[in-house]
Amino acid sequence: MKSDNTIWHSATVTRARREKLNNHKSVAVWFTGLSGSGKSTLAHIVEEALHQLGCRTYVFDGDNVRHGLCADLGFSEEHRRENIRRIGEMVRLFLDSGVVALTAFISPFSRDREVVRRLVTPPDFLEIYCRCPIEVCESRDIKGLYRKARAGEIAEFTGISSPYEEPGNPDLVLDTDSATLAACKESVLDLLAKRGVIAPQRKRP
Ligand code: ADX
Repeated sequence: MKSDNTIWHSATVTRARREKLNNHKSVAVWFTGLSGSGKSTLAHIVEEALHQLGCRTYVFDGDNVRHGLCADLGFSEEHRRENIRRIGEMVRLFLDSGVVALTAFISPFSRDREVVRRLVTPPDFLEIYCRCPIEVCESRDIKGLYRKARAGEIAEFTGISSPYEEPGNPDLVLDTDSATLAACKESVLDLLAKRGVIAPQRKRP
């Protein structure tokens, strides 16, 4: 519960000053999609490229965050909402710190993603839909979770026993079943250049 007795302290080192020092803008790159659709792989490969370009970055990964910050949460609709709310608040702080924050959460509910978009102000939020048919995700089954979900060992599994709401108007759609990882990475970097986050002329790693 929010206390009435806390007062926001404004920093003298502002986001704008940090961005100037970094020589790039701060933004949230929000990957959404089914488990196994390539969100984490992409977030990390884009981070690697940005790092090599001299950008300050951080990746928030669903599985990792659920080991700590969100270890008390499960996969009910309510818990997923709280998961995304916490990440949204964390990303908001990271935006203020001047970094490019990349996130890899299923974030299956449109409403929860919209809450984050509004929380950080819309232009700071780039929604990237990793579109991949469930059959493909399931055939990859890197973590063996689809098999468990089909066997009834995991409840409320996204795409099987819990819904995934496709983004209605994402900033970018990546068909991760057919496009190569390199092509997907390029598309994200192109988007970042188009939105003025990184300079367009920089040579890409
Ligand atoms: S979200 O729905 O709240 O955004 P999040 O991205 O944090 O999910 O976590 C998803 C990861 O948790 C999956 O990649 C998978 O490894 C694991 N997982 C475990 N149980 C489930 C489940 N019931 N539904 C989806 N993912 C699950």
